[in-house]
Amino acid sequence: MAEATIWSVGGYAPPYIVTNDMLTTRMDTSDEWIRTRTGIRERRTAGPDETTATVSATAAQAALDAYGFNADDLDWVVVCTDTPEMWSPATACFVQEAIGARRASAIDLTGGCAGFLQTLQLLSPLAASGKRMLVIGTELLTHALNWRDRATAVLFGDGSGAFLLGSSDDADGIRIGPGLSRSDGSQADILGKPYGGTRYRITPELVQQGEMHTIRMEGPKVFKHAVTLMSEIGKTLLSQAALTAEQIDWVVPHQANQRIIDAVAHQVGFRMDQVFSHVAHYANTGSASIGLALADMLEQKLIAPGQKLLSVAFGAGFSWASQLFVVNRIPASRFLHAGEILGDAWGWDT
Ligand SMILES: CC(C)(COP(=O)(O)OP(=O)(O)OC[C@H]1O[C@@H](n2cnc3c(N)ncnc32)[C@H](O)[C@@H]1OP(=O)(O)O)[C@@H](O)C(=O)NCCC(=O)NCCS
Repeated sequence: MAEATIWSVGGYAPPYIVTNDMLTTRMDTSDEWIRTRTGIRERRTAGPDETTATVSATAAQAALDAYGFNADDLDWVVVCTDTPEMWSPATACFVQEAIGARRASAIDLTGGCAGFLQTLQLLSPLAASGKRMLVIGTELLTHALNWRDRATAVLFGDGSGAFLLGSSDDADGIRIGPGLSRSDGSQADILGKPYGGTRYRITPELVQQGEMHTIRMEGPKVFKHAVTLMSEIGKTLLSQAALTAEQIDWVVPHQANQRIIDAVAHQVGFRMDQVFSHVAHYANTGSASIGLALADMLEQKLIAPGQKLLSVAFGAGFSWASQLFVVNRIPASRFLHAGEILGDAWGWDT
């Protein structure tokens, strides 16, 4: 039976680098505090002319170019994001236009930091049935931060990861195996970006306070739930697939922060040399994080045929997910990450 398969991977980390030390000029924090609490050393921010659609299109084009796939042959372009180009239309429509996917249908999905895995689980049956699609996880989270909230602002970065998906009958690559995902809307107030929708409309007062479009988070509660729920859903998937932690070659977790990654690895029973992390350089890029991680791993040639990968993710909603991947053949990939520009590219006074 045909299975959903990742034919190629594209990753894009925008070129502006903001180090922890640079943040200290904007808020009362320190490199030491950020590194010891989160493992993060620097994050990327999009350039002044970049938007969620352009960043998505760059990663999407990288996936297409890596494979040599004609955008005209795409059936779907799906962007998974919590920081869309605009409220309407979907960011995916701008990406579809930019990459020239003239026959494709385009739509966005929003699921917080677990959204990319949820999206893969939703779309895998379509890919298995022969639809060819680009699934792109993108966030410009630095555009949605309150720089006066030091506990939150230091955690996030910008980036995009794209998978070209299709059926295992047509081409080989990384098979999308079984996955699980769950949500608990009773925790919706703990992490999110509440303003600007229909519940909390933007008012002149909010604009004055500069909080109308920023992320709010109760950090310690998020930490506790993230560790517990990612560990649980990772263990459940392993047990349903009759696999032990030892049989997983790589854990590719959502790159939230190093302490969360370490705690989940410990609770599920992984050695740290099984766990991929590049959170030190890219911080938390939300929906982009797992695609970016895979693009980086492929570039570093860490992935080999026959390997089994387990991803776990957690984010706003709360929503959380786990996903198994099996490497049949190493997919083509391109990871664009030249960090040439030290500094911030846009105004910080949000
Ligand atoms: C955000 C997080 C790093 C904060 O760490 P913590 O140890 O829980 O810190 P607390 O919130 O208890 O704050 C401890 C102290 O550090 C201070 N602090 C917070 N942010 C700071 C910063 N950037 N620099 C310096 N001090 C900071 C607080 O003000 C507090 O000071 P106080 O004790 O004088 O009041 C941690 O809660 C966390 O990792 N949460 C999960 C966040 C996450 O990954 N979210 C996305 C999930 S998808």
